[in-house]
Amino acid sequence: MLSIDAIDTRIGASTVHRGVSIEVGAGEVVAILGSNGAGKTSLLRAVMGLLPLHAGRIKLEDRDISEMPPHARNRLGLGYVPEGRRIFGPMTVRENLEIGAYGVDPSPAAMAASTQAMFHRFPILEEKASAAGSTLSGGQQQMLAIARALMSNPKLLLLDEPSLGLAPQMVLAVRDTIRMLQREQQLSVLLVEQNAGLALSVADRVYLMARGAIVDVGTPDRLADSPELRALYLGHAETEGEVVR
Ligand SMILES: Nc1ncnc2c1ncn2[C@@H]1O[C@H](COP(=O)(O)OP(=O)(O)O)[C@@H](O)[C@H]1O
Ligand SMILES: [Mg+2]
Repeated sequence: MLSIDAIDTRIGASTVHRGVSIEVGAGEVVAILGSNGAGKTSLLRAVMGLLPLHAGRIKLEDRDISEMPPHARNRLGLGYVPEGRRIFGPMTVRENLEIGAYGVDPSPAAMAASTQAMFHRFPILEEKASAAGSTLSGGQQQMLAIARALMSNPKLLLLDEPSLGLAPQMVLAVRDTIRMLQREQQLSVLLVEQNAGLALSVADRVYLMARGAIVDVGTPDRLADSPELRALYLGHAETEGEVVR
């Protein structure tokens, strides 16, 4: 589905990624686990076309998208849920959802059908359809951010730290949402997280990222015992893992 092949990126004069390669198969949930500043957000921005490549290629279903602008990548099937959710606070929940479909099919009929599908999947969003985005709880805003990205009917969802700032119960709800999307829609997901518990409990495969490079990759079962993971999450993974698993 997605193939990131030996990419380098820079921000200003400093190198952010060095030779990063990541594969996401069709219907697969892949997580990238790394601490703050590892390069997770920048990686998703590079996949979405918001950060240019200095070297390497990115392919979506065998099509080279490395030079495409973000809206073209969106139309080809990439959905993006940014870090911090980026809900438009003064706008209603319904309007926030509609924004997600503009780039793909802004016709009223398509908009109504997609909105209805999201209300069916996330009943709380229908209850709150006319409420301002800013009135939603953190967990509800995360659901809205995911639903907004789904409005363009993506094949692959890029999810940037959906657990950030959420209560443990809401992290479980995010985990269940990812599982449901994989099971019922065969959606492919590339999730980046600091929360080891969430990443290890939901992903088919996990990459470890540190200082802009991939330092390990494997199944959650194997990585749970990885010394690299311990080094990254000393005294951290156990507690968070307990909450989520
Ligand atoms: N706008 C920016 N200007 C300068 N440096 C940046 C900018 N955004 C990110 N960086 C740097 O790039 C590296 C990776 O950041 P980021 O991708 O946000 O990491 P993560 O999401 O894993 O916390 C960090 O060293 C960070 O300081
Ligand atoms: Mg980040």
